[in-house]
Order: sequence, then C-alpha cells, then structure tokens
Amino acid sequence: MSQDLLFIAAKQRHAELVELIKNYDKEYYTNDNAVIDDASYDKLRQELEHLEEQHSELAIDSPSQKVGYLVQNEFQKHEHSQAMLSLANAFSEEDIEDFISRVKKFLNITTDLEFLAEPKIDGISFAAHYQNGELILGLTRGDGQVGEVITENLKVIKSLPNKLTGNYPEKLEVRGEIYMSKANFAALNQEQEKQGSKIFANPRNAASGSLRQLDTAITAERNLDLFIYAVHAENFANTQLASLEKIAKLGFPVNSLNRICHTSQEIMANYQQLSDERYKLDYDIDGIVYKVNDYSLQERLGFVARSPRFAIAHKFPAEIAKTKLEDIIIQVGRTGALTPVAVLTPVNIGGVVVERASLHNEDEIKRKDIKIGDIVLVKRAGDVIPQIDSVDSKKRTAAVKDFIFPNSCPVCSSALEKPEGEAVTRCTGGNICKAQLLGGLKHFVSKNAFDIDGLRDKQVEFLYEKGLVTNFSDFFTLAERQHASLTKLENYPGWGKKSVTKLYAALAEKQIISLERFIYALGIRYIGQNTAKLLSKNYLSIENFLQNISQLSENSETYQALVNIDGIGTKVADKLLEFFGNNDNYEQIKQLAELLKIEDFAQNISNSIFANKVIVFTGSLTKMTRHEAKAKAETLGAKVTGSVSKNTDYVICGEAAGSKKKKAEELQVKILSEDEWLSLI
Ligand code: IVH
Repeated sequence: MSQDLLFIAAKQRHAELVELIKNYDKEYYTNDNAVIDDASYDKLRQELEHLEEQHSELAIDSPSQKVGYLVQNEFQKHEHSQAMLSLANAFSEEDIEDFISRVKKFLNITTDLEFLAEPKIDGISFAAHYQNGELILGLTRGDGQVGEVITENLKVIKSLPNKLTGNYPEKLEVRGEIYMSKANFAALNQEQEKQGSKIFANPRNAASGSLRQLDTAITAERNLDLFIYAVHAENFANTQLASLEKIAKLGFPVNSLNRICHTSQEIMANYQQLSDERYKLDYDIDGIVYKVNDYSLQERLGFVARSPRFAIAHKFPAEIAKTKLEDIIIQVGRTGALTPVAVLTPVNIGGVVVERASLHNEDEIKRKDIKIGDIVLVKRAGDVIPQIDSVDSKKRTAAVKDFIFPNSCPVCSSALEKPEGEAVTRCTGGNICKAQLLGGLKHFVSKNAFDIDGLRDKQVEFLYEKGLVTNFSDFFTLAERQHASLTKLENYPGWGKKSVTKLYAALAEKQIISLERFIYALGIRYIGQNTAKLLSKNYLSIENFLQNISQLSENSETYQALVNIDGIGTKVADKLLEFFGNNDNYEQIKQLAELLKIEDFAQNISNSIFANKVIVFTGSLTKMTRHEAKAKAETLGAKVTGSVSKNTDYVICGEAAGSKKKKAEELQVKILSEDEWLSLI
C-alpha cells in the first residue's frame, strides 16, 4: 500500500475509534453507564494511541488529548512561576485621571500613553503552562503564590487548546479568567433544581464549583469558557495588544471588546458604552482593566505592594445595572396584595444575578412611566428585593408596550379591591385564592414563625400540589399520614429518605412553640412580630386568647380592651375580628392549638436579661409605680425582693435612693437607674 493509502486507512479507523471512545466516555461518565468492559475499552485506547504515534496529525481533537474524565482524590499544590496578583481599583473619572498622571509622572512622560482597556471578566483566574506546545500544568490562583493543580480540569475545557500547532514558543504560560456563560448558568441551575441539587447564586460561583471538581467529567459537562488576558513567554511580543493578538492566532480565546485608549476621555467613553451594554453580553463583567500597553514601560513601572503599577481595575458601581424589562407579571401575595413584578433580561448586580424586580404597585408603574420593552436601571441594596430605579428614556423604541393592570385576580379570578387612599390592589378571594393560601402556608413555616428546617417555598409548593398539605394542621399530621400511605414522600425526586426523616423530626420538635410565634405564624394582616408579642403579652395563654377573640365583636368590651392596648389600634382589632369571625379560620386554629403545645407568655421569658435574676427596687420611681415595676419584673422571670444581699443581681434605683444603693455599691451589685431599667425592658 502506498503511504497515502495507508494514511487514509489510518484516518478512517481513527475516526471510528474516536467516535466509539467518545460515546463510551459519555455513557460512563455522564450517564453512569458502563457499556463496555475495562479491558476492551483500554484496548481501543491503545489502538488509538498507536495510530496517533504513527500519524501525529490525527492527535488533534482526539479523546487521547482529553486524558480527561480523570477522577482524582485531592488537588495537589504547585507554586506559580510569578505571583498572581490583584489589581488596585478605580471607581470614578477622577480615580482614572489620578492613575494616568501617576503613571506619566513615574515614567517622566508628558505625551499621551497607550492603554489597553479589557473587560474585567467576573470569573475564576487560572494559569496554564505549555511545554513544546503541550498543556502540562494548570493552576488556580490559590493564595497568589501557590495554586491548586487543575491540569486535568483545564484539559476538558473545550475552548482551551491542549496541544498547540503552528509557531509557538517552547515555554509558554497563559493566564486568564474562566467563566460560565449566562446561558449555561441558567440551564445548569434549571437542571440542578430539577434534580433537587444545589442552586448556584451566580455564574461566578457556578464556574468555581464546576472547575474545582476532582471528577473532571463534571467539569466537562458544565461547558466552561475562558478568556486569556496575560501571556508569559520569552521574546513573544512588545505590547499587551500584540501579545493577545498573537495568542489568539494560536487558538486561545481572547476578548473581542479589548480597546486601545489614550486619554481619560477615551477611557470614560469606552467605560460608558460597556456599562450600558454589558447586560447584552453572554458573560458577566464587573469592570474594565486598563493596562499600559507597552511591555517595556510596564517593566519600568513594576509593582507596588500586591498589585502592578501599570494597571488598574475600573469597577462598575456594584448596585446598579441597566437591563431590558422583558415583561411585567402579577404576583398575588399572602395578604392578597397584587404586586407587579418586572421580568428582566438577567443581569449581574454586585455579584448576584437579578432576573426580577419589584414594581410595587400600579401607581409606581405610571409614576415612573415604565413600559414593557424599556431599558431600565435596576438597583439592588443588600438582601432587599431589587427595584427599578428609572427608565432610560433615550433607549425607548416604538416597540414598547403599555402594561394593563388586570381587573380580576389573575390567580383565582375573584374581584379586586383598592380602598380609597391606598396604593395596593387586593384579591378578595381569601383562602379560595391559591396564591393567598400558599403564601400563608409558606409564612407559617418561615424563619420567624414555626421555622421548619427543610421547608422552603419550593417544598411547601410541592406538598400543596400533591395535596399533602392544604392547611396549617396538615404539616403536623404529615408524618403520621405518610406512615399509612403507599406513596411515600421520600420516593419523589428531590426528597430522599434522609431529608424526609429530618423534616419529620423538625416538625415534631416545633410542635412546642411560644404564643407570640404562634400568633405571628397565622399570618394575619397587620400582625407582625411586634403586634404578635403585644397580643401574647396581653392574653398570656392560647386558651385565653381564643376565648377572648371568639367573643370579639365591634363595640364589645373585649374589642375595647383590645384597642386600649398600647400599640394596638382598630386596624389590628378589625383584622382579628374579620379573621376569627370566619368560622373556618376559627375552627382551624382551634384544631391546630389542640395538636400543638403553645407555651404561655410567662414561660417564654428566658431571653430576657432579667430571667431568673434577683432584683431590688429602691428610691422613688417616676415613670411607673413600684407595684407596676414589680409586676413587670416578674413577667420577665425575675424574683423581686426587698433587701440587698450578695445574692442580688440588680438594684434599680429611683430618685433619692439611700441605704440600699449604698449597700449595693459595697457588695458590687450591678446598679441600674430607672431609665436604664426602662430601656432594658
Ligand atoms: S490582569 C497583575 N485582566 O481580576 C494582575 N485581570 O483584581 C493581572 N480579571 O485576579 C490581572 N479580567 O482574575 C486582568 N482582563 C483582565 C481581567 C482580570 C478579569 C481578574 C483577575 C484578577 C482580578 C484582579
């Protein structure tokens, strides 16, 4: 056979082998399915490698190069060739001007300089070393000096070449940022949610979690991407731009938005454009990095402390971003309030991907002149729900649409009401409305209410959809009903035996609850934590509370007593009347009270600093009577005595306190003024 024919035959067989091996790898690593025994598989790989030894051209894009899917036990450590440093930050035009003049002054140059402006990719930095064109070492940033070895993980990232072709330096190190595209991030989280697995907060965390995988099959599946932003090789190029262009020719991904700028004006114009349009990119950027383009000048500038003098990161303001308002939907809350919610093109604001923002109410949409399709400024502050700050009116097109507020509940079709002077429109459906009922169930088990571990919104929705929990009591009878049932919760995806067992234990534990938490958990409008506390302080026990509330009618003595409580007005009283006036509600709460052990208010004093303390009052109190003060102290769990001894914990001194105060001083007992006592209670 001629050489040519031999090669064609080898190429054909090679293609077959590649196809086979790729399929076996995929079955094995992603579907946990071993369709071939190890020995036969190894034989195929040997044959492949043998062919590639004879015809090296075949090795490109072969599974032999993706030595991959290797499962390691732990990450090894390796020192960086030179430290991986961080960058100083700039936030304003002034900071940029300072940077430019610092650089010029240092170099003693008065003419304009060239800077390369590169998008600052919000991902994970890495270094990759090549020897004779072959990827031999991959490292994470680690502590900057020593990184973790991720060579095998890098090998399964498609956009990073494992083997170089063409004219490459014998020794080459590239550094860059690994990221997960917004599209892959959304798809990954969707899949994770389906599987009941961890949801990633942002693409950066997802990229990090996907890269640092001992099982490289997981890294491979996650489709990570990267950009190179630094090249270390001898005599490679004279400028940053030339260096990146050259590395791009070798097949490395380089960002196409890198721009040369000369002045702060050019820098600011580029910054403005990118900050306006970054939401359209398929990856997150959190600023722009400016680097002195000329390498010889970079070298002269050198480093200060932990960052280079020749570069700076111009960060985007963390809490505001522009994006497109795709749609407006209506959410119905626990109390029936209809809240318009903006559906946004996902945008990273200060490290969190924002896809929704509250629009509060109909008036707000009108006031801010918001239309569907507008480009809007979205603000995020801490954990608060993101808000629409304003519309970028210059970007408005003819394609925008007015939002029409519904005229009946979008969930249950009940009539809506909007009382005079109120901004909020409400559904009148009560528990007929699935949104209100579900909202109530979610609130019932939430942190400040029953605080049931393992019951987040998603799980409550699931239990409701399956008909397992449709009222408050159902939570506490769930374990028993499940015991007798054939369809077990633990067999549904996302539950599992361990989490179900834990859930039942949490529910059993929380059957003992304080009166104030219980009242708060009922989720009656206007009854937040403070009001719940006031009510429980006043009624002391659940029996007393229910008895009084059942007698509640307008103008009754009970009603009067209720509105006389400091901090409770007719709004709360009327709501209680409305809630318990509904017989279904009353019966449900009574039934629930029987299932649970609701602790009297007085028993719930352990979190007061006066619980189990011995207190003495002396002198004349001006803000409450001695009798009232004693009663108050006792409800907080204190013991009030008449004389000071070494067993006394606090002496509370009113005006003209005499011998008891002196004795307290002698015995070094803690002394409080009347005002201090009042502020502590
Ligand atoms: S240059 C000597 N260029 O930002 C420092 N960094 O705070 C060299 N980053 O840890 C960094 N995009 O992970 C550079 N185009 C870019 C970048 C970039 C993202 C990250 C990098 C670094 C951090 C600096």
